[in-house]
Amino acid sequence: MSLWYEVIVASSSPNLGQVCAVIGAQWGDEGKGKIVDRLAEEFDVIARGCGGANAGHTIVVAGQKHVFHLVPSGALHAGKTVMLGAGMVIHLPTLMEEIKTLQQAGVTILDRLFISKSAHLVLEAHLTIDARSEEQRTKSSSGAIGTTKRGIGPAYADKARRIGIRADVLQQSPADVKTAVQTYAELIASVEPNEIDVAAETNNLLIAKKMLETCVHNDVPGLLHKKLQAKQRVLIEGAQATLLDIDHGTYPFVTSSATTVAGALQGLGLAPRWLHSCIGVAKAYCTRVGGGRFLTEADEKQGSTLRERGGEYGATTGRPRRCGWLHLPDLHYAARINGFTRWNITKLDVLDALPIIPIGIGERGGKATYKEMPGWRSSTAGVQSWEKLPKAAQQYLLTIEQETGVPVSYIGTGPGREDMIVR
Ligand code: GDP
Ligand code: IMO
Ligand code: MG
Repeated sequence: MSLWYEVIVASSSPNLGQVCAVIGAQWGDEGKGKIVDRLAEEFDVIARGCGGANAGHTIVVAGQKHVFHLVPSGALHAGKTVMLGAGMVIHLPTLMEEIKTLQQAGVTILDRLFISKSAHLVLEAHLTIDARSEEQRTKSSSGAIGTTKRGIGPAYADKARRIGIRADVLQQSPADVKTAVQTYAELIASVEPNEIDVAAETNNLLIAKKMLETCVHNDVPGLLHKKLQAKQRVLIEGAQATLLDIDHGTYPFVTSSATTVAGALQGLGLAPRWLHSCIGVAKAYCTRVGGGRFLTEADEKQGSTLRERGGEYGATTGRPRRCGWLHLPDLHYAARINGFTRWNITKLDVLDALPIIPIGIGERGGKATYKEMPGWRSSTAGVQSWEKLPKAAQQYLLTIEQETGVPVSYIGTGPGREDMIVR
């Protein structure tokens, strides 16, 4: 080992082991929520950096289903600090609904929720603009993106235009809240033909102010830094996924935020050097909601088999997900961009009945080329140890490991919290 290497490692080692990120490798819905919920027990802070209520993270605990859109999935664990970073776009009525639903399930979070004052707000106007621009795109040659219609693109557009309203508005007096909405209405008028309902938007903000004002924090990066220096551990819950990334995804059929680990760190104001590990989450097959390329999309018959077995209907919109096979070059791409240190391959059990499993290995003339892997045709549902997996299932997972150079360490074998192999 060279002296330089030792100096570099020694100087950074006090920070190691502090921050772990969970990032989707495909087009979303890989099962990020479930591993975040599983890991949360080991962490002190669970944080989201980007995206909004376009996310739908489902976890199943003791047979009960919980769906998270804005609150990080780790929030079910009592006492954990939860943070929403500056990179997020937050629809306050949805956030309040989510908090109330959690309260009904006996989980209180208001006293441990920190919302960055710099996070942008999604207004009702953004939902209207999202729906309208999707309609317009349907008539264009490009076609609709198939957004979740949660106002995400328009809210990020206003952020980039530097006219957005941020969470710190909740700290202002009712009169100033109204002025902020009026100012926004004036500024947006030059770019969008939309009528802003100033009274209704203001009213929404004033209702949210009552519940959430005390959660707005003026220095989330500083708070994170303090916690890390006190040796607390931070778990970052990625939303959306690498192939939906605004820069590195399948543009224009992407979301409007940076969905990679770099985007999550930026969204939280967390220096990259704190990051110790990054878990890539991918299904044992692949799905996509909305438009855009999907090289390994299965035909209707096989696709609907996967859809029914995997329950592939969107957690946010209820839309049927397009289903298909793994594409190893995409996994490799995601692993490189995010520097995955481990894989969590989820929903292995969904493939249990298949005699042959195609796995995409490349592309020729715009079509995927495949290698056929033997199926295992026996149940892996609920299996919790590597040794208990059929040999063919082990071989399938080892192929992912070998082709991407990232160890497969966590394997999902069912929706429940316990249905997981830790290898
Ligand atoms: P996320 O957006 O990445 O958090 O994923 P979603 O929650 O949108 O979609 C994943 C779906 O698969 C949810 O309904 C989970 O309950 C379910 N799920 C997660 N892991 C597994 C698994 O290993 N096996 C099965 N059968 N279902 C799983
Ligand atoms: P989670 O966190 C799956 C997709 C939409 C659409 C595109 C743009 O649950 O994995 P948007 O509303 O963001 O403008 O839509 O991105 N999309 C997702 N697909 N899972 C998600 O989140 C998604 N978030 C956005 O379907 O194709
Ligand atoms: Mg989802």
